[in-house]
Amino acid sequence: MDRETTLKVIEQKMEPFGFITQSDQYGGLITEPWDYPVNENIIERIINAYNLAISEPYDDIYDPNEMWQDSSRKRGDLHSALVDRNVDAVSELLNNFWGNECGQHLVKYRMMENRDDDPELFDKYLEYKMIYDLYRSALFSEKGEINTARFDVRTPAGNPYAMVMNGDFIVPASPHYLRWADYVGGLLVNNENPSAGELGGGIGLCAYFMLRDIPNLSYTNYDLPLVLAVNQFFLMHALPDQTFRLYGEGQTANIELLPHWSIEHHFAEFDVFLNFHSLSEMRRETVNNYLGWIGTKTKEWFLHENSGDAQQGYNQTPTPYWDIPNSFKLVNVTPNMWGETTYKEYLYKKVI
Ligand SMILES: C[S@@+](CC[C@H](N)C(=O)[O-])C[C@H]1O[C@@H](n2cnc3c(N)ncnc32)[C@H](O)[C@@H]1O
Repeated sequence: MDRETTLKVIEQKMEPFGFITQSDQYGGLITEPWDYPVNENIIERIINAYNLAISEPYDDIYDPNEMWQDSSRKRGDLHSALVDRNVDAVSELLNNFWGNECGQHLVKYRMMENRDDDPELFDKYLEYKMIYDLYRSALFSEKGEINTARFDVRTPAGNPYAMVMNGDFIVPASPHYLRWADYVGGLLVNNENPSAGELGGGIGLCAYFMLRDIPNLSYTNYDLPLVLAVNQFFLMHALPDQTFRLYGEGQTANIELLPHWSIEHHFAEFDVFLNFHSLSEMRRETVNNYLGWIGTKTKEWFLHENSGDAQQGYNQTPTPYWDIPNSFKLVNVTPNMWGETTYKEYLYKKVI
């Protein structure tokens, strides 16, 4: 499709949502840089944890597949800045992750590698996707309303594109992750000291909403060190009142953000374990190794959303190829509610 036709198609798709975009509450898309101040102490902790993590030997079963290796190569500037311990360069890269290569495959709806190629098209597409998500979340909410305050991610760490409604700041895919955070909150509702583990948490949007809304939650994320740097940057800036432990640090903390392979050595158990759009993007032996550890570390629930279809593109190992541990019983399967038709959400309960 050429550019003009693409623009027309997007405009047509936007038409049914005129009642949102023309309402008094709608403030449109913010695409200007926010100039959010970086905390240098956080950057130094990220640098130390990264260098320690990449110096440790680990089993190659944990290695990412081709696509994620390529994605690491594209984050090469971040890797170099971290290894050089260049605080300014790391700060500059991470503080713009929503728009630069650090956010690649993590920030939803980046139709183009570089917004500068065609800002008008990029912004129109993004606006359409965000409006669509808000509309879907209203359809599925109890009262059929869009409660924008709940989607608000006021901390503009990483320079997000945000859509403003009722004065609230909504970032791409906020509705997806808030919905999962609410789901997890429901699973943990009678638990006074709940714990959640996640593999491949990406930026950390689900974690952000969970930690904001679920009282006393402790949380651990395991991810590839270069992606983890983005996650640490976002969560540590967005949740300044929480306590964090990064790899190699000695203190105890509410939130632990650790390299992927450390799942094997980390002494922890979780009431719920999460994985979204991640395991199906790994090699089959990697998936099944992780499933073994998830089975061991999960006390009650395993909630994930991954590709349930035949192998396609970056979804190298869809769910039919997974060896789910016998200790899990499938409780529920739900189709993806955002129009991502290859994905399904699965809830398992630990029964042994
Ligand atoms: C498409 S992103 C999804 C991120 C996040 N769950 C979300 O839904 O926004 C895939 C995630 O899987 C992680 N990942 C890919 N290969 C991995 C591996 N071998 N071990 C651990 N994490 C991996 C990536 O670093 C990334 O965080």
